[in-house]
Amino acid sequence: MYRCIIRRVCSGGRVCPAFVPPYTQSPSWTLGDTPEERHHRLAQQRRQCSHRSMSSASRRRRALRSAFPVLEQPLQPIHHHVYEANLRNSNACHNKYMELSEKIRKGGGEKAIARHTQRNRKLLVRDRLRLLLDDEDFLELSPFAGLGLPYGDIPSAGCLTGIGRINGLWCVFIANDATVKGGTAYPITVKKQLRAQEIAIQNRLPCVYLVDSGGAFLPLQSEIFPDKNQGGRTFYNEAIMSAMKIPQVAVVCGSCTAGGAYIPTMAEEAVMVHRIGTIFLGGPPLVKAATGEEVTPEDLGGARLHAEVSGCVDHFAWEEKEAYDYTRNIVSTLNFRLPEEEEDEEEPLYNSMELLGLAPKSYNYSLDVKMMVSRLTDGGRFQEFKARYGTTLVTGFAKIHGHLVGIVANNGELSCQAALKGSHFVQLCDQRDVPLLFLQNTAPTAAPTLSTTQAEVSSNRLKAQGSMMSAVACASVPKITVVIGGCHGADSYAMCGRAFEPNFLFLWPNARVSMTAPGHAGSLLPPDSEQEEEKKQEDKLNRRLEEESSAFFSSGRLWDDGVLLPQDTRKVLRNCLDIIKQQQYQLSMEKLQSPLLRM
Ligand code: COA
Repeated sequence: MYRCIIRRVCSGGRVCPAFVPPYTQSPSWTLGDTPEERHHRLAQQRRQCSHRSMSSASRRRRALRSAFPVLEQPLQPIHHHVYEANLRNSNACHNKYMELSEKIRKGGGEKAIARHTQRNRKLLVRDRLRLLLDDEDFLELSPFAGLGLPYGDIPSAGCLTGIGRINGLWCVFIANDATVKGGTAYPITVKKQLRAQEIAIQNRLPCVYLVDSGGAFLPLQSEIFPDKNQGGRTFYNEAIMSAMKIPQVAVVCGSCTAGGAYIPTMAEEAVMVHRIGTIFLGGPPLVKAATGEEVTPEDLGGARLHAEVSGCVDHFAWEEKEAYDYTRNIVSTLNFRLPEEEEDEEEPLYNSMELLGLAPKSYNYSLDVKMMVSRLTDGGRFQEFKARYGTTLVTGFAKIHGHLVGIVANNGELSCQAALKGSHFVQLCDQRDVPLLFLQNTAPTAAPTLSTTQAEVSSNRLKAQGSMMSAVACASVPKITVVIGGCHGADSYAMCGRAFEPNFLFLWPNARVSMTAPGHAGSLLPPDSEQEEEKKQEDKLNRRLEEESSAFFSSGRLWDDGVLLPQDTRKVLRNCLDIIKQQQYQLSMEKLQSPLLRM
């Protein structure tokens, strides 16, 4: 791919047709043009060309939209070396991504799948989601959570979470995968469920639970049960969400044992499937042990009992498909008035596949972040803010699939000036109610300060970064963070890291997450009199940093909402921005005094 571009620039204006948008196929530049002149000429041609083919209404809309200048950032021969190295790294990351995706698709493995579908006659979790959600892609959250943990590989943390549309309305779903140890909750499962609820709360999204779980995974009960952000928090959140008027619907499509029994009971509406759904605090074996009585699961806590006698559920479904039809109908009663979709959007200026060659491999050298911005925004347009000040941070306004956003992107270390600019811009967006998009690529920790002048520079930087952290923490607009490279040290906090509660945080597969970057461990170790010993320790720490800083290591522990392929970034950002906006269309939003209580 890159070679075509090289030829385009080096062969006196001969263009490879496969690589260039149609409107640039007859370039009129001459060999004498400077690159700037060439870009200017091209932009003019493009404007003229698209203007001619538009209706007057489109032209009016276009006139409004065109206020942002086009960010001309083509690849140049000088980028070749870095681009090719990045591309090779991106390809290796992509292979790893595909390998892990394949692994989690198998859930708990063939035997467990056979037991689930043949003996227990239940649908697999992805087939359930297919029946529940509209016929389109959904945004799956943290699919790699649970991989590579000290207590083993727990595919998808035993539970799929995400956001998908039901009758056009974005809803969070939390769906147990009972092929993974009977859908029992590991510590990572609880963490994943709580994060999904947090997203529902932060973005005011309806939430649908597909419950099929044996309750707590008993060998790890001490890490699931007692603490604040553990099992009980799910039920606490359910109550708080209900009081906030965030609708919740549960489908009991399997076992709902012990704590799990409260999920449907506390939901606003619950549907239960005949013969496969059960709700009880203690199952038949427990009854037998306590009273000696033999009882079937159906009699103890089946769908008939709960729909006809206890009132724990509101809808009885004969089979699974019917349960998901009920749920879709329930969602239609939630009283949101969604707007008609607008179609008037521009594609980015360059092919998004080029992001693979821009995704940085090295911590020491990244290509100008504006090259990435121009491949993410509508028409490659970008209204830059303070372009000549604090240039190691790029800030400005752009549109992504028609949504106006304020972009804050690292372009080197977060210097004092860069951080001051960042604070100013973040507050500006907050004033104007413009959502913020952080493109994070923070530089590794700097070496310790030795001179007084350096100390002063560092202190000023410290103050400026502190101010930026305050501005980001207190900005009330929605925030989305994409780690496109490094996520290291304190710079990453100011760039809206996980602790600063962005509505969504994704990583590119090449991303690295650690206090300090691999290769920089030396400055952190205490000096040792034995130089050889010191070197050994440093190597060991660097190896560990290398292993622990990978995007997949991070995602396995749920420090983010998932690994995102660079070429899919625009699509996912569009979904996130649509999702965030949806709350504006809920017709009744005043807070209730108390949650809805099941009588
Ligand atoms: N803790 C740890 N492991 C559990 C478990 C639990 N609470 N519940 C089930 N498992 C494991 C089983 O040991 C089995 O492991 P294996 O595949 O290595 O053999 C696997 O999950 C599947 O269980 P199994 O009983 O074979 O599958 P099933 O589909 O017939 O039934 C349940 C699934 C969840 C309905 C059933 O296992 C059950 O009732 N479990 C106990 C639930 C309970 O009392 N929970 C209280 C927790 S507070």
